Parts: sequence; structure tokens; C-alpha cells
Amino acid sequence: MRPISRPKAMKTTENNKKRIALFASGSGSNVFNIINYFEGSEIVEVTIVLSNKKNAGALVHAEKANIKALPFNRHDFFESNNVLRLLKSEQIDYIILAGFLWKIPENLISNFENKILNIHPSLLPKYGGKGMFGRHVHESVLANKEKETGITIHLVNEKYDDGKIIKQATCSIDESETLLSLQEKISKLEKENFPITIEQFITKK
Ligand code: GAR
Repeated sequence: MRPISRPKAMKTTENNKKRIALFASGSGSNVFNIINYFEGSEIVEVTIVLSNKKNAGALVHAEKANIKALPFNRHDFFESNNVLRLLKSEQIDYIILAGFLWKIPENLISNFENKILNIHPSLLPKYGGKGMFGRHVHESVLANKEKETGITIHLVNEKYDDGKIIKQATCSIDESETLLSLQEKISKLEKENFPITIEQFITKK
């Protein structure tokens, strides 16, 4: 794995900040929001951002914020302990999946038990499982003429979208709702709720 940005000049292992790793596959608007929220925090440090896509916007956001940003491949993630070793060497306390679309392998689940959070753009258990991500979720919600949808922040276990629910937030669906307007509503809910839920989870509030 080739670093695409330099790590921060000073690590903060000498203080009590919790060190989080963000995993993302896409444009990274949640990564951007989480980085901004914890900028200057005395509780949480975004230590590293990792992606299975080397051109992911999430890596660019991290790089701009001077946070270590690395792509990884299938071998690193599924067929070796490369990603796990990296997380250990960075002394990561929590993993946050912010639009990350690969299933989490057993080596990470067992080493970070109850310490991996995911955000999903529906009210789980509805519209979860394999293939249910991003716009596919919203298209199904609209096709089924749901009156309400929302977001779920949950612990990650070995199944897709299945772990204990930590927080849900809802929005109504109007008669005139379009894919775009629904995406905007969900994005707003994610930005309002994800960073603060991470913080409350980490501080056990
Ligand atoms: C978010 O809506 C997130 O809930 C979703 O991917 C999007 C990523 O957007 N995650 C899933 O669908 C996970 N199953 P972003 O790259 O702009 O943060």
C-alpha cells in the first residue's frame, strides 16, 4: 500500500484521545463532515482514512486535512492481515465505516469487537443487505411508496447491515419526492447525526 499523503508531524499517543480510522468507498461527504467535526477535538482524533478505491474523494478530503490517507486492495483486506496490521500500528481504537461498501472480514471483526460503526441510508432492518447501498436503497424506498425513511447507525458484525442499532433518524417522504430530493434529505440527516453519534458512542453517553 502506497501512502498518498504524509502522516501528521506529531502523533497524539501521549494524550487520551481516541484514535479513529474512517473507511470509505465513495465521494466521502461523510468523511469530510466527520473530519471537520473532530477538528480540534480533545476526545477524538481522525487518525487515518482508508479506501478500497484509490481515486476515492474520501482520500482527497483526508489529504487536504493533512490526515494519513491510504488505498488498499482485496489482498490487503481479505487475504492477508495487512489492513489489520496497519490499524494496530496506528493504535486505532475505533473503525468508522462512512460509505464503505465491502463486507468487513473476520480478522477485523474479532480484533475490533463492538468497536466498528457503520452508517446505512435506510431504517434498518428495512432496505439492508447485500446490494443495498447508496441510490439503490432510495430507489427501492420510492418504488415501494414508503411514507417515511431515514438513516441507521449500527455496530458491525459478520453479516451485512445486521449489528446492534445505536441510532436512527427519520424523514418523511412527500408525494412529489424524487431520487435527488430524497438523497438530499438523507444526506442532511447523516451530516446532522453521524459525528455526534460517534462521539457519544465513544464517550459512552
Ligand atoms: C452514504 O449515504 C452512506 O449512508 C451510504 O453510502 C453513502 C456514502 O456517501 N452507505 C451505505 O449505503 C452502506 N451500505 P458519501 O461517500 O458521500 O459519504
